[in-house]
Amino acid sequence: MDSNTSFQTLAVHAGREDLTELGVHALPIDLSTTAPLVDIDSGGQAYEVMATGGVYKGQSSTVYRRLWNTTVGRFESAMAQLETQRIAQTGGDAEAFQAVAYATGMAAISAVFLSRVKAGKDHVVAVRPLYGGTDHLLASELFGAKVSFVEADQIASAVNGSTGLVVVETPANPTLQLLDIGDIVSQAGGVPVMVDNTFATPVLQQPLELGVTFVVHSATKYIGGHGDAMGGVVITTEEHAIELRQIRAITGGLLDPQSAFLLHRGLPTLPLRVLAAQATAIELVKWLGTQSKISKVYFPGLNGSDPNGLLGTQMLGPGAMIAIDMAGGFAAAQDLCRNLSMVTHAVSLGSTDTLIQHPAGLTHRPVASEAKPGQGILRISVGLEDTQDLIADFENALSKTT
Ligand SMILES: Cc1ncc(COP(=O)(O)O)c(C=O)c1O
Repeated sequence: MDSNTSFQTLAVHAGREDLTELGVHALPIDLSTTAPLVDIDSGGQAYEVMATGGVYKGQSSTVYRRLWNTTVGRFESAMAQLETQRIAQTGGDAEAFQAVAYATGMAAISAVFLSRVKAGKDHVVAVRPLYGGTDHLLASELFGAKVSFVEADQIASAVNGSTGLVVVETPANPTLQLLDIGDIVSQAGGVPVMVDNTFATPVLQQPLELGVTFVVHSATKYIGGHGDAMGGVVITTEEHAIELRQIRAITGGLLDPQSAFLLHRGLPTLPLRVLAAQATAIELVKWLGTQSKISKVYFPGLNGSDPNGLLGTQMLGPGAMIAIDMAGGFAAAQDLCRNLSMVTHAVSLGSTDTLIQHPAGLTHRPVASEAKPGQGILRISVGLEDTQDLIADFENALSKTT
């Protein structure tokens, strides 16, 4: 695709470049778990390339699905193009980045951690708040590295000779604070930085252009967008992608091709979905802010969440994730979740319908008590319903809430 291609057009066409040649219009799904071999030697050479993290480039056979799958490869190509769209547009080397897709977001994040330990680095610096699963994985030190949890302005002093990774999430989950990615990269002083871009999506934020080494997604969320497929993806430089593919081949975390198909099918509508949900979220936030039973609304740009003025530059818009703090604490949060009728009480985010959940009790349950979100906080993932219908549901539910 031309480097001037807009994000919207790229979202529609990326990863579909060979479809005309193949004589198909919809994305093909290759479900083979094994692939016919031409002969032992060429099959063995293809195996060698893939098991050591190389890219399958039409070798004689894909050998075995845990090593590689063409449906997954097409999705990876699309994700790499979307996360580097602005790099390409500004004349940078977008081709230097590759995507590696996994069965879940946590599998993708785990692979990044393992790759750094494999590189001989046994220390990670992380800024809280993070998604509860990421926090749990880091705090458990399961992957064999010590972790220092620090404030965003303490990264430089926490980094030492053994530090292999700096981990951040912006907007932060669930309080939606924005971190200055450029400043974090410069504080890291050459140590690779990993940004979880699940909330922002490449529609609103492309961290690779700011010097980040690993962008990760729970593709289960906005990327797929319909709440019916799980997946994870890392977009990084070729050197790191080789390590990540090798880890994936050995540990068996490859994305399932049927999920790859569904996640890829979500991409053409990604910009439309994110921008529509964001427009609704902006209106809903204004209304939520007038409600006496809600003591605080968290949304990028509100309540000191953007001290560095990153909204409109680093992140093009506030997104569609909101958090509210209920004046009546946990009991009121419990009541509101029960009283909503159209809004679904469920974890996860980025689906077509609006979801609400209690981070301290659910997504952030494993987080240490000193870092756990407050008991009155609820997180809302705004969907694609009509704004007035959503407000009506919240109005009705709040009227019955303590
Ligand atoms: C921001 C964020 N990152 C990572 C994950 C983990 O992704 P998955 O559930 O696909 O493993 C989640 C899941 O909720 C998330 O919200």
